[in-house]
Amino acid sequence: MWLAPGRANLMGEHTDYNDGYVLPFALSQGVTAAAARRDGRRLTLCSRQEPAAAVEIALDGLAPGQVTGWAAYPAGVAWALEAAGHRVPGACIAIDSDLPAGAGLSSSAALECATALALTELAQAELAGLTVPRRDLAAIARRAENEFVGVPTGIMDQSASLLGQAGHALLLDCLTLDTSQVPFDPAAAGASLLLVNTRAKHDLVDGEYGQRRAECEEAGRRLGISSLRSLTRPADVDQLADPVLRRRARHVVADNQRVLDVVALLSTPLGTPADIYRDIGQLLTESHASLRDDFEVSWPEADAGVEAALAAGAFGARMMGGGFGGSVLALVPATGGPVRDAVTAAFARRAWTAPEFLEAVPSEGARRLTLQF
Ligand code: GLA
Repeated sequence: MWLAPGRANLMGEHTDYNDGYVLPFALSQGVTAAAARRDGRRLTLCSRQEPAAAVEIALDGLAPGQVTGWAAYPAGVAWALEAAGHRVPGACIAIDSDLPAGAGLSSSAALECATALALTELAQAELAGLTVPRRDLAAIARRAENEFVGVPTGIMDQSASLLGQAGHALLLDCLTLDTSQVPFDPAAAGASLLLVNTRAKHDLVDGEYGQRRAECEEAGRRLGISSLRSLTRPADVDQLADPVLRRRARHVVADNQRVLDVVALLSTPLGTPADIYRDIGQLLTESHASLRDDFEVSWPEADAGVEAALAAGAFGARMMGGGFGGSVLALVPATGGPVRDAVTAAFARRAWTAPEFLEAVPSEGARRLTLQF
């Protein structure tokens, strides 16, 4: 049995596919894959969350477009593993998850990574000693999502799920793919991270995410650079005549800098933990404004949730993930009781579905579970 966690992202949104910086961490919630070898080159896939949609697929001749729905993610991983030269064994895989789907917590990446780990470790038992490095597995899982499922996401979610470490956030440079673990333990400083699932479902297969990505690429083309990562000063974006492209690029430049600012605050703490968390909170709130006004990917429930959280004493809060639905991340004192109450009341006043709260604890990345009887 293998577990791959979902992820939260402390800072750096829509920066990964612009070759920029991100600072995600693995959650304690995730997807488990119980897997065993079976005879023949076939995969049997079932999920406790999709009881009516079990499938059996042939590994030989597997190609994008053949599998749809939830099973496209694990099938895509098998396809991408084989395309990368790793032989996938026939297997039965049973999936379960305690991550809410559509909440922007990367349940798809967790499903891909749990499958990738299960299939490679099952194969390894046969082909003694052939481990696939985690960084390669992240690229394989991303390829499954991009090319088999057809969603043009970046590398952040799979990296967080596979490379996360308990008590740390993962600084990932998406240009070089260099990573470093940044100690991050809000509980030790009397703070916590609250995830507010706004219950507005996001669906990255919808075109908005791809459109933002295309706008960033267009901004880069007009500036004659290979990616927006090359821009480092806010004024660099002024050369863009188009106001929409200018706003998009401004967000990317500013969020990249905010990642580095948060890392600096966590790595060389000057001041008390309370000062540091107040400063990080300020950066979170600035990032929300930038995602709402410049990148234009926020949604009404996220804006209301951020506003209510700040009014109730959160150090800072922002929408998280691709946007248009999903979760808000709030950095709160202690366990954030008053913030939960205020956000719940704000949703009730507008007659929205009640939000769901999860504590985001920086946790260990994907792993095989040992069962003890
Ligand atoms: C989604 C994608 C990531 C990243 C974020 C936005 O979670 O899967 O690759 O682009 O959106 O930061």
